[in-house]
Formats: sequence, structure tokens, C-alpha cells
Amino acid sequence: MTHKLTKRAVLTGLTTQRYGRHLYVFEELDSTNACARTLAATGSPDGTTVLAEYQTAGRGRLGRSWMSEPGRNILVSVIIRPPAGTVVAMLPYIVGLAVAEAVGSTAGIRAAIKWPNDILVDGKKVCGILLEQEGTGTDAAIVAGIGINVGQTDFPPEIAGRATSLNAVAGAPVDRIVLLQTLLRTLEEKVALSSGKALGALLRDWSDRCMTLGRTITVEHGTQQVTGLAVGLSDDGGLLIEHDGRTEVVYAGDTTIITPRRQS
Ligand code: BTN
Repeated sequence: MTHKLTKRAVLTGLTTQRYGRHLYVFEELDSTNACARTLAATGSPDGTTVLAEYQTAGRGRLGRSWMSEPGRNILVSVIIRPPAGTVVAMLPYIVGLAVAEAVGSTAGIRAAIKWPNDILVDGKKVCGILLEQEGTGTDAAIVAGIGINVGQTDFPPEIAGRATSLNAVAGAPVDRIVLLQTLLRTLEEKVALSSGKALGALLRDWSDRCMTLGRTITVEHGTQQVTGLAVGLSDDGGLLIEHDGRTEVVYAGDTTIITPRRQS
């Protein structure tokens, strides 16, 4: 069943304090991230949420585009104004964890995280996340853009073998409204915890879901390529890769997993 994403449908039964309470819903938009950044620049509060049924210029990581069939998926951007004490470099992981948990619990499946923050089910990508910063210093806001393939049936040939949708993996239609409400609630909870003592536990939860750690991987970014064992996260939000007797930190790129997880 595909319920239309209307403001009323999203707000009915939403249990958050702030996330989704300032809500903008569009039939068509260039990019929810672009819109949310404009809203952030003009002072919109923490938790402001922008939704669209279709994007004409959806943005992906590393300058790519994000394609989504109209009316079938979730295209959402949330303005996060990090609480004092938040390690902003860790926010991508907090957002990734929240999305993986929300997707998994709503669809009744196990969602894994591939560094940096792709969400995969059965080895195929169901969700992409793009964090962008708007402003600097104490006024800085992070826009968390999340694209979840819920009912997408066709994928461009170049990603067809690597992408899937929740309806396909769950074997039943996933309710987009329930998923969105769960996502907003989970995100609000995790962000609130991320500035305190719970950060360590959140990062452990992230590591437990991360299919990249403990494996030999290659990370490619532009002309640079690093191959080695992914051993953990650095304090400033990078991925630690051991190779040739040293540890290198990478901050962005595409990951290819070369070996299965080491048995302990
Ligand atoms: C990726 O490349 O994996 C990240 C994709 C992020 C796509 C989402 S869709 C909603 C939001 N608006 C955008 O323009 N991009 C993000």
C-alpha cells in the first residue's frame, strides 16, 4: 500500500519533540538537501524536515546524482543543529545508525552499514545518506539528506546489480509513513544522545552493524586508492586502514570489500 506523503499523514501519529514538527512536503523539488540548506541559512530550527515525492536534481555523495522514481521512495532532509558538545565529525555515523535501525525495524529485516554510510540489505544498497554543512561556527547546521528505496522497481543499468528496494527484500510493501515517522524518532533520539556519555555506546552499535570493519577493503577517492584492513574509526571521524605496517586514515571514498570478516 503506498500512502501519499502528505503533511497531515506524516504528523498523524508522529511522536517526536522537534524532528518533523517544522515540515515541508513537496510534490517536486530540485533537491531536498538544497531546500533544507536554504532553510537552515535563514534560521530554521533543529529538526526542520523537507520531503519530496520527486527530485529533479537529487544529490548523491562525491558529486553524483541520486535518481528516484516519483512517489515510491523516501527523499528527506533534516536540519540538525548539533547540541553543545557534539563531535560533529561523528554525526555521519549517528545518522547512519539511526537510518539502519529505522529501516530494519520497520521492514523487519537486518540492515547493515557500509562505510561511510550506505545502508545495505543482503549486500545491496537500499539507502544513501548525504550530509552537508550549512554555515560555520556556532551557527553551523548539518543537513542530513536521506534517500531510501522503498518501492523503486527499476534502477539505472550501472547500479542495477548493486541496488534494491525495501519492498523487494521484505517481500511485502513497507509503509512509507511509518518508516518516516520511525526514522524521525530514531534520529532525534540518537542525535540527543550523541553529545553525551552515550556516544561510545552509539559508535559500538554502529560498529556492530558495519560490514566494513574487520575486512580487507579498498577505498577509492578520485585518483587515490588505499587497500588494507579496516580496523576502526579515528577520533575525527575517519576510517582507520592498516596496511604495510602502518595505519592510514581516509575520510571519503567508495569502498570495495575484498575479504570476508576475520574470525576471532
Ligand atoms: C549517496 O550518494 O549514497 C547519497 C544519496 C543521498 C540522496 C538523498 S535523497 C534526499 C536528499 N536530497 C538530495 O538531494 N540528496 C539526499
